[in-house]
Amino acid sequence: MKNFIKSIILLFVTILIVASCTKKVAGNIEQTEVEISSLKTKFKNDFYIGAAINDAQINGTDTLALKILSQEMNTITPENIMKWMYIQPEIDSFDFSMSDKYVSLGEKYDMFIVGHTLVWHSQLAPFMNEVKDSTIMANHIKDHINTIVGKYKGRIQSWDVVNEALNEDGTLRESIFLKVMGNDYINYAFQLAAEADPEAQLVYNDYNLWKPDKRAGVVRLVKDLQSKGTKIDGVGMQAHWSLEGPSIEDIENSIIAYSDLGVKVMFTELDVTVLPNPWDLNGAAVEQSYEQFEGDPKMNPYPNTLPDSIQNKLANRYEDIFNLFLKHKDKIERVTFWGVNDGNSWLNNWPIKGRTNYPLLFDRNNQPKDVYKTVLNLKN
Ligand code: XIL
Repeated sequence: MKNFIKSIILLFVTILIVASCTKKVAGNIEQTEVEISSLKTKFKNDFYIGAAINDAQINGTDTLALKILSQEMNTITPENIMKWMYIQPEIDSFDFSMSDKYVSLGEKYDMFIVGHTLVWHSQLAPFMNEVKDSTIMANHIKDHINTIVGKYKGRIQSWDVVNEALNEDGTLRESIFLKVMGNDYINYAFQLAAEADPEAQLVYNDYNLWKPDKRAGVVRLVKDLQSKGTKIDGVGMQAHWSLEGPSIEDIENSIIAYSDLGVKVMFTELDVTVLPNPWDLNGAAVEQSYEQFEGDPKMNPYPNTLPDSIQNKLANRYEDIFNLFLKHKDKIERVTFWGVNDGNSWLNNWPIKGRTNYPLLFDRNNQPKDVYKTVLNLKN
């Protein structure tokens, strides 16, 4: 009997020891996994990987998103705060309060810091839309670029110098800049940026750059700058895509066409919408107002959770996209998601307000989604 009790005690102690060891080992494995399994470690020999960040992240209040940023990303872009209407809302009145915090944050985490954006017709200061005289417009652009690029010289590594200057057919957009200054405003902006910080990387950024006609427009634009001896280092493909398109082939053709010009390719605003788009519906032109769709349940099919079938589609789509990026990693400098998690994506409010979208790799609780794991498990 005594022996029996002894054996029972021995068995119990053995179980306890084994259990505690297993836990320790599992703990170590988990920890190691977290250390090596981050996006920035995964792609460290391929390209920078990052996200656009919003006010709450820049101010430091969204600590959970900041944790993701610091663990997963090695590049950041300011989603809004450096746009003209915020940084120079009135003539010669600059507000650097947020941009200073943004740059400090990037430095704290040792990140590749992007400036977005210098010359763009959207989110422009109202005074710029009033300008009628080309010399006055040129002076405003000069003042804007010299002041901002000069201030962050050596601290912001890459600038989206001109944003969205092209129409879908590849011709130049009739923006206020084109109307007042003619087509030389693009060359002018790039030259000013190069003078203000000769080391900074200078990028032309736009959406739908996979489209053959628009691609041809970019090629003309870059060649024009190069023929004038103006520095341009990269083409930023925004990459606001969907589950269905664009095709991998169209994206690939653009990567190759831009790289053949001797410039780098960046994917600057990557997200994949899973929701229906107004322009997919018959009779809804892009120019149309989409307010009519607000609150329409057909346009917001997943208000609570994303069905597994769509999660899978999203994972497959991102798999195809990242496999393409990896195939052309020698040409690609950076991949930036437009937002850190689904909850703060602009796609919840664009092109229709108040929807629930799921376009990124982290969910509304900052947890990695299945698609994150898919991307992490790809073969580099
Ligand atoms: C978007 C922001 O994400 C929104 O918060 C804002 O209301 C509008 O602009 N192309 C760009 C980005 O270059 O600056 C835009 O960002 C998205 C489209």
